[in-house]
Amino acid sequence: MKGIILAGGAGTRLYPMTKVISKQLQPIYDKPMIYYPLSTLMLAKIRDILIITTRDDQPLFKKQLGTGEEFGLNLSYAIQEEPKGLAQAFTIGEEFIQNEPCSMILGDNIFYGNDFVKMLQEARSVAEEGLAVNFGKKVKDPKRFGIMELDDEQNILSVEEKPEYPKSDFAITGLYFYPSDIVEKAKLVRPSKRGELEITSINEMYLQEKRLKACLLGGGFSWYDAGTNKSFIDANNFIYNRQEERGEIIACPEQIALDNGWLSNEQVFEQGLLMKNNAYGKYLMDCAKKKIIKK
Ligand code: G1P
Repeated sequence: MKGIILAGGAGTRLYPMTKVISKQLQPIYDKPMIYYPLSTLMLAKIRDILIITTRDDQPLFKKQLGTGEEFGLNLSYAIQEEPKGLAQAFTIGEEFIQNEPCSMILGDNIFYGNDFVKMLQEARSVAEEGLAVNFGKKVKDPKRFGIMELDDEQNILSVEEKPEYPKSDFAITGLYFYPSDIVEKAKLVRPSKRGELEITSINEMYLQEKRLKACLLGGGFSWYDAGTNKSFIDANNFIYNRQEERGEIIACPEQIALDNGWLSNEQVFEQGLLMKNNAYGKYLMDCAKKKIIKK
């Protein structure tokens, strides 16, 4: 299974904040926003990850994340020349995907909640069996999102991109799992009325073939699409409060790599040492030490 993080777009909704620095490199409390979607893919045990950005932003993403070695990952990079829509990620990524199942997460989507790892692993198996999975979450402002209409058994009846009259309050979040024919489907997408290659058109195709499943995130689950000033600050406050309350670091790729067996205790400890004067570095050293004691 491959993974894509789509971090393109000019971020105009956050101007002037994003005039120089891409939205997905700006901090959500103590780490760059892209650490959160990266961690989500890692929790789904995905190691081969393609990061799609604008041409201008690519050097900074490479400077931030490098080859992925520090996180036990294999990172690749690609460019989206113009923000032509989310579905384009799969045609840009065609060579990278190589007819494997593929997950995609938007670079500004932050997920946190109980049983998330279990849900991700289930979604992954469903995609490996040939079906697509969308994650749904009840929202107050459904007109802002892609929307899924559900029957009583949580089967998806319809999907619609930013509808004027939403048929439900369930947003389709920016995390998708697709089977191995995803590139084929993406090539069939034609521009919508607003001129974009919509991810919703791909979901619609799987729905027509009865191959689209919903995974619903419950009331206690937190999801942020940090693409507006309000959701950006809400996400920052949430992560700050949670981390302070729990004394843990959310979306720490080195820790996930350690748990997944992709980095050794020694490697994580070394990385912590390089940042030993800050809380993140100390946390890495602690994680590595605890793992040694558990053994
Ligand atoms: C995109 C998708 C939309 C989805 C949302 C989730 O919208 O087009 O279907 O609900 O991401 O974050 P955007 O935020 O790019 O406007």
